[in-house]
Amino acid sequence: MKDLFGKALLDYQNGNYTEDIITSTNISDEDDLPLPYLFRGFSEMPKLEKKALKLAKGTILDVGCGAGSHSLYLQEKGFQVKAIDISKGAIEVTKLRGVLQAEVKDILDEKETFDTILLLMNGTGIFQELVEVSKYLSHLKNLLKPNGQILIDSSDIKYMYEDEDGGVWIDMNSTYHGELDYFLSYKDDEEDPMKWLYLDFEKLQLACETVGLKCELVVEGEHFDYLARLIPAFQPSSR
Ligand SMILES: C[S@@+](CC[C@H](N)C(=O)[O-])C[C@H]1O[C@@H](n2cnc3c(N)ncnc32)[C@H](O)[C@@H]1O
Repeated sequence: MKDLFGKALLDYQNGNYTEDIITSTNISDEDDLPLPYLFRGFSEMPKLEKKALKLAKGTILDVGCGAGSHSLYLQEKGFQVKAIDISKGAIEVTKLRGVLQAEVKDILDEKETFDTILLLMNGTGIFQELVEVSKYLSHLKNLLKPNGQILIDSSDIKYMYEDEDGGVWIDMNSTYHGELDYFLSYKDDEEDPMKWLYLDFEKLQLACETVGLKCELVVEGEHFDYLARLIPAFQPSSR
């Protein structure tokens, strides 16, 4: 990984903002990912993210923290927050912005336990593909303290396969429609292609059941997006 995402965040943080990140997928054309959006304050956040921050409690792990916007907000509210990301640049920026505990780390390497685990801005993207979902979910479940919760957002991107007449052209014999190849470029340099997973609520719920998590729909957004709250299906007895 060239960490172009981290480079872009660092440029913005250091006052060298000249252009945005460009993203595209195997089913969509190029689109701008505005750097200021990654540094958003609470008032600029979508309603799903605001709701997740309101529900956060206890010790918090912000997975894939990016520029650390959610961690910063929660830390300022007095919570103990740990921010992790696989991007070195992202963690440098998160620290520069004042987040006290921020580490370059893959979620699968995390071992501490938390009361709240946040995965926001299409949190299921980190799972990469459908066959990996149970592995990530059971690992996340193991990182929960008693009565802990996972707050995660995603969308059903079926609408991206619709043509102008409203017809849907999903090939039923191919892989799950939310599994995308994701391409990112910044300042004429291209990142290695990545896999990025959008998961509809029913599929997430089904995957949760297989690993002993209960999946509740917290709130739906305006465009097939949703916030879910996952808790262990069986809490250990307090006796
Ligand atoms: C779409 S960005 C979201 C950033 C941030 N949560 C926000 O809302 O602004 C996804 C982030 O997840 C990070 N990431 C991807 N895979 C990861 C993994 N396995 N463990 C930790 N972070 C990961 C990426 O480097 C990226 O910063």
